[in-house]
Amino acid sequence: MRLSKALRSLCASLSTVLLVVVLLMCKDCSNNQQLFTRSKVGMRASHQAQHEPHMPQKNKKEGEFRCQVRDFGCISFQRDKDIFNKSKALLAKKISTQECLLLCFKRHYKLAAILDEKCYCTNLLIPIKVDIVSCEETLPYKYSVLHLFEIGSTCTEKPKNISESTIGCFPRPTNMKEMTLKKMVSFKMTRALCIVECEKGKFTLAIVPRHGVCICTSFDKLSIDPPKQIMMQSVHPRFLETYSCRSSTEMAVWRTLVEDSCGSKRFLNQEFPLNKVGLVSHPGSGNTWVRYLLEVSTGLYTGSWYIDEDLFSKGFFGEGESAMEATTLTVKFHPYFQRKDVDFFTLFPRYILLLRNPYESFVAEFNRWNSGDDHTGVAPVQDFLSQKWFRYVEYSRKIWIGNYTNLVERNNSKLIVLFDDLQLDPITEVRKMLKFIGVQPPDLENRLACLKRNLAGNFKRKKKVSLDPFDDNLKKDINKIIQLLRRRMKRMKLCRLPDWERPLSN
Ligand SMILES: *[C@@H]1O[C@H](CO)[C@@H](O)[C@H](O)[C@H]1NC(C)=O
Ligand SMILES: *[C@@H]1O[C@H](CO)[C@@H](O)[C@H](O)[C@H]1NC(C)=O
Ligand SMILES: *[C@@H]1O[C@H](CO)[C@@H](O)[C@H](O)[C@H]1NC(C)=O
Ligand SMILES: *[C@@H]1O[C@H](CO)[C@@H](O)[C@H](O)[C@H]1NC(C)=O
Repeated sequence: MRLSKALRSLCASLSTVLLVVVLLMCKDCSNNQQLFTRSKVGMRASHQAQHEPHMPQKNKKEGEFRCQVRDFGCISFQRDKDIFNKSKALLAKKISTQECLLLCFKRHYKLAAILDEKCYCTNLLIPIKVDIVSCEETLPYKYSVLHLFEIGSTCTEKPKNISESTIGCFPRPTNMKEMTLKKMVSFKMTRALCIVECEKGKFTLAIVPRHGVCICTSFDKLSIDPPKQIMMQSVHPRFLETYSCRSSTEMAVWRTLVEDSCGSKRFLNQEFPLNKVGLVSHPGSGNTWVRYLLEVSTGLYTGSWYIDEDLFSKGFFGEGESAMEATTLTVKFHPYFQRKDVDFFTLFPRYILLLRNPYESFVAEFNRWNSGDDHTGVAPVQDFLSQKWFRYVEYSRKIWIGNYTNLVERNNSKLIVLFDDLQLDPITEVRKMLKFIGVQPPDLENRLACLKRNLAGNFKRKKKVSLDPFDDNLKKDINKIIQLLRRRMKRMKLCRLPDWERPLSN
């Protein structure tokens, strides 16, 4: 039966106890598709209420999801049908139900769905022929089973540990009203309650300027640019014990689970046919950071030739998207890991070539390999003293010069981005890259303003390596490849490489 029919018959067959609720919901059944989806959702919720009133079970490891969720159980439909109508709202794979709900909630979606172990967020499902099935049921491959949840806006439980929600102290504005999006006054008001109330209202920030008062606001209302620096300086050393700022001219600001609207991201849906643009670099050259900058500034996912589960779990959902489909802004590629049967220059007629001082990128990549497959960790010091390090540099040096020589000397259309320039002025570099890619999102300026507040993302290595792992022999070799590439780039009339060479110790 069609979904609408299925709904009506379900509406009709539900018990009288549920009827009142169901009638309210069923009123929508014949209306437009959007309501239709919601009504379906509503019904199933009441239907299941007796068995599992509250999903999901709390699992501390998976993080806390404090908002009301309705579990609508599972529906099955033919695998070749696209219940999302290509509206790739957001998808992630192999994450827990909790994480999926949180992802969808943060991005203001009403529905979360688990399909083939992937998490989808959407506001709308299209009416196709479905059957209501048990989630445990194993169906022939011909069918997909989709487990559907509705995310309510009621977040009842308090955050367990509000220090995890703090973003620090900000200067207190003279006129509090100007930054207030919602104000609540109650003698029962606590910080935790305020965070929850603001969350319910879909606000990103919560402030308790004095006892009993709760103010919900957003980053742009704080109107401090960049606020991060200010807050870092002014956090009281004992902030986490007292939650009070250093002086009365400051106020503590808390983050709700709701993300900035700038946090929303999606895949390209062939709406502007982009030529596939490679984002090409030696590993450890800031590729992930560039992807972060591009994603925040456009709201579009960047892709990758690889499937890096670690990056995926950190929100780079373009990981694993087929590089052949133009659903992402750029496609990350390390010529280093090139398959023999892949011709790079055919694959990427146009590319952004990211260049970083090899001294830095070798350390960065070595850290990544030796700190337990994390993009921000640091390798143990003794690893830098071992043969492993020397062999690694020797190998990387050859790849680096070989690959970059190829990449700069080819005729393909390319944009060279120096890591040094990115560090100095990321916004200008982002503008250049977007121009090269040919994308100009309508909300670009607003997004760049958001980006300015967190230029680093979560992708900077936390610690620095304390020793200089390069002895004079390594330095000689590395200085040589830098000079070589500089000459080659000069011959190609490309930009001049900075003075990356390091002096020998004697
Ligand atoms: C599916 O999407 C297309 C375009 O994206 C739209 O024209 C069409 O109406 C949608 N179909 C349904 C049933 O929502
Ligand atoms: C709360 O979180 C902070 C920061 O993550 C941590 O230092 C503190 O120990 C936590 N407190 C409790 C009671 O879990
Ligand atoms: C990069 O270097 C690797 C290893 O030498 C090689 O297999 C690959 O073809 C090179 N790619 C380019 C684009 O130069
Ligand atoms: C490079 O491009 C120019 C013009 O676009 C063309 O004339 C030239 O033959 C090309 N060179 C190579 C090596 O492909």
